[in-house]
Amino acid sequence: MSSFTIFLLCCCTSTFMFAQGYNALWIPDTLSGNTITLTAKQGSMMWWGSTMTMTAGFNAEQTGRAFWGPTIILRKGDSVHMVVKNELEDTTTVHWHGMHLPAVMDGGPHQPIPPGTTWSPYWKVDNHAATYWYHPHLHMMAQEQLLMGLGGMMIVRDDEEAALALPRTYGVDDIPLALSDRAVDASKQIKVKPYGDSMQVNGVFRAEWNAPSQVVRFRILNASTERSYNLGFSDQRSFHVIASDGGLLAKPVTLDRYLLSSGERIEILVDLSKDAGKDLFLKAFNSVLAQNVPGGDRIPVEPFVNALARIDFNIMHIVVGAPTSDPITAIPAALVTVQALKESDAVRTRALTISDTNIAGNAGVSFLINHRLFDENFIDYNVPLGSTEIWSIANSGNFSHPFHIHDVEFNVLSRKGVAPPEAERGWKDVVLVNAKETVRFIARFADFADAQHPYMFHCHIALHEDEGMMGQFVVVDTIATTSVSEQRSADGTTSMYPVPASSHVTITSTTPFTHVTIRSMLGEMVADHTVASTMSETFRLASLPSATYVVQLDGQRPSLLVVNK
Ligand code: C2O
Ligand code: CU
Ligand code: CU
Repeated sequence: MSSFTIFLLCCCTSTFMFAQGYNALWIPDTLSGNTITLTAKQGSMMWWGSTMTMTAGFNAEQTGRAFWGPTIILRKGDSVHMVVKNELEDTTTVHWHGMHLPAVMDGGPHQPIPPGTTWSPYWKVDNHAATYWYHPHLHMMAQEQLLMGLGGMMIVRDDEEAALALPRTYGVDDIPLALSDRAVDASKQIKVKPYGDSMQVNGVFRAEWNAPSQVVRFRILNASTERSYNLGFSDQRSFHVIASDGGLLAKPVTLDRYLLSSGERIEILVDLSKDAGKDLFLKAFNSVLAQNVPGGDRIPVEPFVNALARIDFNIMHIVVGAPTSDPITAIPAALVTVQALKESDAVRTRALTISDTNIAGNAGVSFLINHRLFDENFIDYNVPLGSTEIWSIANSGNFSHPFHIHDVEFNVLSRKGVAPPEAERGWKDVVLVNAKETVRFIARFADFADAQHPYMFHCHIALHEDEGMMGQFVVVDTIATTSVSEQRSADGTTSMYPVPASSHVTITSTTPFTHVTIRSMLGEMVADHTVASTMSETFRLASLPSATYVVQLDGQRPSLLVVNK
C-alpha cells in the first residue's frame, strides 16, 4: 500500500506517551518574491521523545521540519515563477488550491513530477486577497502524500485588503492555522487512513499559542483528509468571519460556530483585548455533527475507526499575554464590495450528481460524481471561454461531500433552494454538499482556454478523490480551431500562451521586461506597450486580425505570436 519507504533509523523499545504539556505552535517560515523554490523531500519528526516518525515536507532545510511547508506570500498582480523540486522517492504533483491560473500550471493529476525532477510553472497572480494552499494531487496517492505531511499555505495580499484596519503581521497577530489529524501505529509511524486519533495544528500535536491581548486574525485551513471541524471557543465567545476560501466578505459575520470542511478556509477575527492573563481553547464541537457529516460518522470498521469521531475536542490552547505595541483593537464594520456574479448572467446550468452507487467489482457502494469513476481520458464538460455558468450539484447519497472545483472561485446561490448563510456569500472554491441536498453555485470561466489540459472537480475527501470521486473540464475557446499549448522562444527566454491566441495572450519571460512590441511579419509595428517591470503580462488582442506576428520584449530575442480568431 505504501510506496514511501519506511526505514527506521533507530529501534526504540521504550514506549513514549504524549507529553502532558503543550507544544508551541509552529509558525511556518514564509517565501515571497518572483521566484519561489519548493523542495519536496522525505525526512522524519521526533514527536515522541527519540522515536522517529517518517514524514515528508517542503523545504525542510529552510524550516528545520520535514513536515508541512513554508507559507507562500503572493501579491495580486505579481508574476510568480515556481521551482518545484521533487526529491521524494515517488512521483508527486503540487496543486495551487484556489489559484486562478492556466490548467497546465495547475498541478493537478495531469502535471506529475517524477522523482529527481523539477517542475517550473509560472503565472500572474489574479486572486483576491485570501488564504489558499498547495498540496499533492497525484491520482490515487493524494491521501497518503497529504498524510505524510506534504502541503503548505499560500496567502494572497492585495490593495483592497491592505486598506483595511485588519491584523496582518504574520505570526504575530495574523496566524496561519492548518488543521489536520493523524493516526500512528505502535512504532509511531503515520497510518494511511482517512481519520486520525490526534489533532495537529501546523503539524504540532497539542499546540499552544501565546496570543497578544488584542484583536487577532486566524487563517484557518482544513488540511485534514476527511474530517470537518465545527469550530468554536471553549468559553463560547463569538468570533467574526472576515473571509471565505477566495476572498474577504462584504462585512464581518459574527458567529460562535463554523463548520469547516476538508479543503475549505476561513479567516476569523477574535477579540482577545480583555483576556490578558487568561487561557482558552480553539475547539471542534463535533459531538453535534450528524452521522452523515465527515467527522460525525462513527463507523466501527477500519479504516474508519478513530478516537475523535463525533466528540468535542481541543484544537489549540491559547494563552493570552500582553498586547503588542500597535494592536488592532476594533472589528471593522465593513470589508470589501463583493462583486458577486448575477444569476441572470449565467448562460447555462450544468446538473451534476453525487451518488452512492454499486460498481461491479467494488465492495459496498462507491461515491460517484455524475455516475462514473474518474477516467483521466474522459472530459465531463467543455466550458466555453468567457461563459458564466451555474453548477447545480444534487447529492442523492447518504453522506455529505465537500465539492471542490479548480480554476475559479464561485458564489454559492442556494442550498436546498434557500440562499446560503451570510458567511458563505463571498468567494468559495469548496462547498459541502450535504446528503440529500442540492447546492447551486455560479462561476465565470473568464480565462485560459486550453482544449488540451483539463481542470479537475472533485470531492475534497482525499480517500474519495483517490477512489475516483473526480471529474474534469476544459475551458475552450470556441473560435480557436487548432490545438492550444504554450509556445516558447528558441532560446527559451520568452513563452506565450495560449497558442494560437484569440482574445488575449500571456507573455512570460525568464527575465523582467518593461517594453513589448508586436510587429507584423512585414515589420510593421502593430502594438507597442510599456509595462511596469514584470516577468509576465497579459495583453488583449482585440484589434489584431488573425495572423502570425513577431513579439519582442525589450532587447530580447523575438518570438512568434500566432493569432487565430
Ligand atoms: Cu485542494 Cu483538486 O484540490
Ligand atoms: Cu484545488
Ligand atoms: Cu466525498
